[in-house]
Amino acid sequence: MSRKILVTSALPYANGAIHLGHLVEYIQTDIWVRYQKMAGNECWYVCADDTHGTPIMLRAEKEGITPEQLIARVHGEHSRDFAGFNVGFDNYYSTHSDETRACADDIYLKLRAAGLIETRTIEQYYDPLKQLFLPDRFIKGECPKCGAKDQYGDNCESCGAAYAPTDLKDPYSAISGAKPELRTSEHYFFKLSDPRCEAFLRQYTSRENGVLQNEAANKMQEWLGTPGDNKLTDWDISRDAPYFGFEIPDAPGKYYYVWLDAPIGYMGSFRNLCGKNGLDFDEYFKPDSKTELYHFIGKDILYFHALFWPAELQHAGYRTPTKIFAHGFLTVDGAKMSKSRGTFITAQSYLDTGLNPEWLRYYYAAKLSASMEDIDLNLEDFCARVNSDLVGKYVNIASRSAGFIAKRFNGQLAPAAAELPAIKAIQDAAGRIADLYETREFAKAMREIMLLADAANQYVDSVRPWELAKKEGMEVELHAACSNALNLFRLLSILLKPVLPMVAAQVEKFLNIAPLIWADTGSLLAAGHVINTYEHLMTRVDPKLIVNLVEANKESLAPTPEAISPQRHAEHQQHEVKAESTWEPFCDINDFMKVDLRIVRIANAEHVEGADKLVRLTLDVGNNETRNIFAGIKSAYDPALLIGRMTVMVANLAPRKMKFGISEGMVLAASDGEGKTPGIFLLSPDTGAQPGMRVK
Ligand code: 2FM
Ligand code: ZN
Repeated sequence: MSRKILVTSALPYANGAIHLGHLVEYIQTDIWVRYQKMAGNECWYVCADDTHGTPIMLRAEKEGITPEQLIARVHGEHSRDFAGFNVGFDNYYSTHSDETRACADDIYLKLRAAGLIETRTIEQYYDPLKQLFLPDRFIKGECPKCGAKDQYGDNCESCGAAYAPTDLKDPYSAISGAKPELRTSEHYFFKLSDPRCEAFLRQYTSRENGVLQNEAANKMQEWLGTPGDNKLTDWDISRDAPYFGFEIPDAPGKYYYVWLDAPIGYMGSFRNLCGKNGLDFDEYFKPDSKTELYHFIGKDILYFHALFWPAELQHAGYRTPTKIFAHGFLTVDGAKMSKSRGTFITAQSYLDTGLNPEWLRYYYAAKLSASMEDIDLNLEDFCARVNSDLVGKYVNIASRSAGFIAKRFNGQLAPAAAELPAIKAIQDAAGRIADLYETREFAKAMREIMLLADAANQYVDSVRPWELAKKEGMEVELHAACSNALNLFRLLSILLKPVLPMVAAQVEKFLNIAPLIWADTGSLLAAGHVINTYEHLMTRVDPKLIVNLVEANKESLAPTPEAISPQRHAEHQQHEVKAESTWEPFCDINDFMKVDLRIVRIANAEHVEGADKLVRLTLDVGNNETRNIFAGIKSAYDPALLIGRMTVMVANLAPRKMKFGISEGMVLAASDGEGKTPGIFLLSPDTGAQPGMRVK
């Protein structure tokens, strides 16, 4: 039976551009949603702009426009960027909407009726010039701990200390520069510390309940405290005028804090969709709903989604989320995105530079798992992987066979060989790959699909259509070879469709078939089926585009002394150490752990024609996986004697294109580095180590 599923991604703020960090989440969610739709489930994907709060109000003021004008413009920009990356929302709405206001008031009033809203007078910094209460981020001053100047009101970027804005020395308003005054004001609180909330959240967030990933559930236990020691504190949900947001019922001059109506914006967007297409809102949000609700979020906003939001829903008489999927952050070339380095890359600049959005979708898919670990966009690896996997392995299958079908057989296919091992392998793997999509193990799915593509290419290499085409009397063989290849290509296209929707649409046109769904993995193209002309599906990434992209994102500001000095310092130190010692400078355990060292068995070793230093190694890395690498060990080892030997490899070295092919890692060997003691000494583990074991 088909499932009914409602899916959301976090709502982006309406005062900034979408960048590649945001896109990790939208692409992850979109792949999952597309898979669900292909699998025949009724799945709705909604999102919206997060439009309220002081920063948006101030930004509009700075631009000399109203907040409404600002959020309308940004809504257009965000919608354009998401469409550019084929993020297929069923509705992309705004929290500044009648539906969100109605849902917010409804939830608020139900919580109030349940005795879970309370008012309290608090002291807060006030900017006497701008005449507004200052959010923590708009107060700056000297860090109370380390004395660093110009630190924000919530934590110090220099020493990492967290504190209250009132702890800052010599505070000033980041808006006007004025010295802030402490003023009192009445605020509204959601009583999260109430025993009802505590009891509900202990059960809801427990590992056993399975709503959260284990790592997130563990974090929750920290935030909740041990039973009997409730660590939950009440949540301040109001802000004073002037504020851009919704006024709280019966509380003139008091507005819902942006984080109160943000998740309610999920409901607002869905309610708007229901109004447009006749869906039943209550069926999805009533307490005993049989439908499923999933929120994809970044790990930084877990607190809001796993504590406040479910507690609000529960006590206002709504269903709670089925699961909350948190992901890690994006780093670019191993570091935080940086405007000065040009790695704070906007969605628009990526598209304007002429990069294909599906390259990024694939690259992210190849990196994403169900965990909260950060993922790295390594720009060199990005080129290598897209070129080797998508162009070299996948598209190549069609481009090598389509022409013959058109030219020699009027576009008509011969019967497919249903028993062909490469075809059967894909059909057998389809269920497993479906599970990997369902469980958000996209990297594993991509790995498996590429192994199937390898097998498909091996088939094409073995039948050599280009040679058959030159021989007399080989028409039947040529027809069969190309028809099988196109069937393999169609099957692989189904498996990749959640990731590459645009390519899939082109494939459907080229193969002259209805939109592919998951169940199509069970069938093959009929004999006599006529295909359309093949048009090139994807080009290789030109590394020059990447250079242009980074240039386009470089902020032309002269670097500030603080921005440049830590780097200078590090360089300086490194040179010093190098000058007097042959040891590398210290790295910390985190740096070391980034290197994924694995035990491998050398499954095959052979000479590389034309290379005087290299040996081609096929490494068994466990789990029925192999990697090909080129190792510069020919001077020391006879390939035949290496077969069967165990050694250690760097398994996460970015694949490198070499003259003789792609090298997918490196084996570890010792040498004196200067050729004083001739020889290269391959490492071996102790007896008992198995391929795939991690070395640390
Ligand atoms: O962190 C953010 O960017 C917020 N705008 C996310 C809101 S998610 C949801 F709660 F609306
Ligand atoms: Zn400090």
